[in-house]
Amino acid sequence: FPQEKIRNFSIIAHVDHGKSTLADRLLEKTGMVSEREMREQFLDRLDLERERGITIKAQAVRLLYKAKDGETYQLNLIDTPGHVDFSYEVSRSLAACEGALLVVDASQGVEAQTLANVYLALENNLEIIPVLNKIDLPQADPERVKKEIEEIIGLDASDAILASAKKGIGTEEILEAIVNRIPPPKGDRNAPLKALIFDSWYDPYLGVVVLIRMVDGCLYPGQKIKLMSTGKEFEITKVGVFSPNPTSVDMLVAGEVGFFAAGIKEVRDTKIGDTVTEAENPAREPLPGFREVKPMVFCGLFPIESEQYDELREAVEKLWLNDPAFSYEPENSAALGFGFRCGFQGLLHMEIVQERLEREFGLKLISTAPSVRYRVELVDGEIVEVENPAHWPPREKIARVLEPYIRAEIYTPKEYVGAIMRLCEEKRGVQKDLRYLTPQRVQLIYDLPFSEVVLDFFDKLKSYSRGYASMDYSFLDYRPSELVKLDIYINKQPVDALSLIVHKDKAYYRGRELVSKLREVIPRQLFEVVIQAAIGSKVIARERIPPMRKDVLAKCYGGDVTRKRKLLEKQKEGKKRMKSLGQVEIPQEAFLAILRI
Ligand code: GTP
Repeated sequence: FPQEKIRNFSIIAHVDHGKSTLADRLLEKTGMVSEREMREQFLDRLDLERERGITIKAQAVRLLYKAKDGETYQLNLIDTPGHVDFSYEVSRSLAACEGALLVVDASQGVEAQTLANVYLALENNLEIIPVLNKIDLPQADPERVKKEIEEIIGLDASDAILASAKKGIGTEEILEAIVNRIPPPKGDRNAPLKALIFDSWYDPYLGVVVLIRMVDGCLYPGQKIKLMSTGKEFEITKVGVFSPNPTSVDMLVAGEVGFFAAGIKEVRDTKIGDTVTEAENPAREPLPGFREVKPMVFCGLFPIESEQYDELREAVEKLWLNDPAFSYEPENSAALGFGFRCGFQGLLHMEIVQERLEREFGLKLISTAPSVRYRVELVDGEIVEVENPAHWPPREKIARVLEPYIRAEIYTPKEYVGAIMRLCEEKRGVQKDLRYLTPQRVQLIYDLPFSEVVLDFFDKLKSYSRGYASMDYSFLDYRPSELVKLDIYINKQPVDALSLIVHKDKAYYRGRELVSKLREVIPRQLFEVVIQAAIGSKVIARERIPPMRKDVLAKCYGGDVTRKRKLLEKQKEGKKRMKSLGQVEIPQEAFLAILRI
């Protein structure tokens, strides 16, 4: 395909502004998908993604479009993940493009995610085409949103396209704009191979499938390649494109987007952002922008039935091989037994992994509250990283503690500014900026301890702003902080899996709240249960759960057998998410109670 007829673009949008619906329209208009296939939104591959209605992994589709100038163009649509946890992946997908459609819901306006992604696109020098979607809605206000795009983003919106992805309005105009406004790729077909990896996954037939943007040179079956970050070499077995089903091609050349397989066994070997080059005649330098993704959020995962430990080990190993952003190490908890301390890119990633472990591997798990990685300087000068409260060094050995901070950009209608500022202050935030972007919309910038954000910040932000505020964040640095370890005792036994690290000034409040929450979620037992919170040896809060009097079956005397059995089954059901500690049955809710204070 002649290079000047290629256009590589992606769609950036805030969640729910209509990205997937628009992508479907573009596929439909270029004759790529049949009606039946249309029923499922095509670009969301994983079941889980479809269920949650969010796009997690990038995908690329090649469309052939006959433009009004009579020429046929190759359009490569690169889909980007739509969540703050995955901004590195988004930036690599955007690096594979020359342009982007900026989809903004004309009834809503510019949101944090829109902005974050626009900045990533501008950093990658992309040509941006604003599309105002959902103009069919009576409350759509394209003029106001145009103004917002100009004032907030500083982008000329005079030729923004008015569209309704739902009704199919504006689709052709969008395709023409892609052809006419986005520049064709540059790059030299005769130079040594250089290709950017922007996604990869495991396929049972092909091994690892790698999505790439060809920058220089060409790629064909039989070629020996090298991955520049690790130096590992492989031989290409298959090269192809998604149109939208996977289709083999003889060769991919500079400027194109496609996939290859090379008998690679582990997704971990194909890191997003890495450069593929030729083993014999390598490129001198890799493409810029590569970085290893590091886990930022941690939690303990334990099997409810200890017999499932081996299965859990196999599952996390498998997952590790196929998810470079996931980490694990064995953990032994006095309360929960043997399990794993796992690391994730963010909270959403954590939820997704847990769900996959349960669904795909049939495991029943109990998870501890998420935590972050602290840096603890010891009196003897040693520095240790601690992501598990159970491994917190004794107080007398600690010289200083540092914790990770993020910079949060929050966008909100002006009515909620006061409430959001109170929330940020509650969470130990430091205000950096407050700006009226328009008379109605405010941007707040705060530096916040990541540990506070991990707890319940997003939920609170949504509830304080009745769903209207949105937020994006990036990691800043480590800062010294007065942190202490709060221990929980149940009937005098410490429960390591319930310990947490808290700020000194909040320890009393948190301790009291947690203990009273635990009193609510731990069911009554046949004996008295005493719950205590302590810092070091000092007890700061105490609650008791009185013993249960009646047997569950007592009220069934004289009743029929099925009713009795039902009750017993119900009780068994309730036990599924329980762990017994000594004799006390502790439900999963207890381990997450800290999140709901
Ligand atoms: P994520 O995949 O979560 O990032 O969302 P998205 O941006 O892909 O949004 P999606 O296409 O799933 O659309 C979100 C909702 O908006 C769906 O219920 C769509 O039916 C609806 N929607 C999309 N485009 C339009 C439109 O032009 N008009 C109207 N009225 N609704 C639309």
